[in-house]
Amino acid sequence: MKVVHVVGTGTIGEPLIGLLADHKADFGIDEVTFHKRTPLVTERGKVNDLVRRGAVLVVDEDKRTTFEELGHAPKFETREAIERAKVVIDCTPVGNENKAEYYESALNPLGFLAQGSEYGFGKMYARGINDHALVHGEDRFLHIVSCNTHNIAVLVKTLAMDDDGTNHLTDGRFICIRRSNDISQDSGFAPSPTVEKHKDGRFGTHHARDAHELFETIGYDLNLFSSALKLNSQYMHALHFSLTLDRDITLDEVRDRLTANKRVAITYKKSTNAVFSFGRDHGYFGRILSQTVVAVDTLTVRNGNTLVGFCFTPQDGNPLLSSLAATLWYLSPDELDERINILRPYLFAEV
Ligand SMILES: NC(=O)c1ccc[n+]([C@@H]2O[C@H](COP(=O)([O-])OP(=O)(O)OC[C@H]3O[C@@H](n4cnc5c(N)ncnc54)[C@H](OP(=O)(O)O)[C@@H]3O)[C@@H](O)[C@H]2O)c1
Repeated sequence: MKVVHVVGTGTIGEPLIGLLADHKADFGIDEVTFHKRTPLVTERGKVNDLVRRGAVLVVDEDKRTTFEELGHAPKFETREAIERAKVVIDCTPVGNENKAEYYESALNPLGFLAQGSEYGFGKMYARGINDHALVHGEDRFLHIVSCNTHNIAVLVKTLAMDDDGTNHLTDGRFICIRRSNDISQDSGFAPSPTVEKHKDGRFGTHHARDAHELFETIGYDLNLFSSALKLNSQYMHALHFSLTLDRDITLDEVRDRLTANKRVAITYKKSTNAVFSFGRDHGYFGRILSQTVVAVDTLTVRNGNTLVGFCFTPQDGNPLLSSLAATLWYLSPDELDERINILRPYLFAEV
């Protein structure tokens, strides 16, 4: 049985469970199970709909009665569901704790994934960036990098590296202009623009550190630095970038490189609400699965060799694609490219 188990039903978990359940047959998955921690009447509709779409509810044994009182019919308990699964996708902010408590001792699963915040969980991965760094039988724990790290990584790979892998980047600077909280979240709103500390002397914030580590898995030691601030908006992240190369580059070449990468979208829109709204109408349940949306009108070249511009980060889209790709890589690597093609309509050339 190819069972995929998702832990967490929040901003990342909820769409991922739906995506896996809706396309189970296309992905070659026999069953999708999901763990919900807290029994909540406010989330009863969400759980019921995921179950209606074919996903199977899993809860902690000591919460089973409360879930049943809400009208749910959980089928498995936490440890049992992990042992039944071939792949476990942790979508909680406590993936590292779960690894220590449950995953390391589990015998059946081929692999475990955790999301952006879970630094140290396993080898970093982003679809299209370091696929050939993954080693079957060795990489049982993978860390799907955060949305802004996906964005930084795809910009560097597309604009500063040649197809043969030659790196031209001498200095990459990034300012992550983050939305405060997700539209699905009640807490964590920022009342006004709020700047973040540069905790890391070499990399600034974790975004550049993670992108550096991601590229390190394929043999690069990149000079990257990021800063971050939160805006009082719920729409989506934007990213300012400045890439200094060891050679000159023209805007024509930049445009050619952007259009050649199928995981990059371009846009002539200028606002996050306009880009977000495109996702609402054309995306997968509102999500743009491209790894970045580059605002082409903002691109400029300084001194012949420094490319500057803005782009938008599809924050809950790009980790979904990489999580699915990693899951399919564990289950049937030879079929990954064909099976993931079902999501092609949500990778846009232009937004
Ligand atoms: N939000 C984004 O746009 C985004 C983008 C990229 C990556 N990520 C990453 O995805 C992961 C999850 O983020 P999220 O935004 O999806 O979080 P979220 O919306 O707050 O959802 C967290 C989920 O984890 C569950 N959970 C289990 N144990 C938990 C615990 N001890 N504390 C808190 N929650 C617990 C919660 O279950 P109950 O509600 O049932 O308690 C909830 O379903 C993080 O690693 C984050 O960095 C998020």
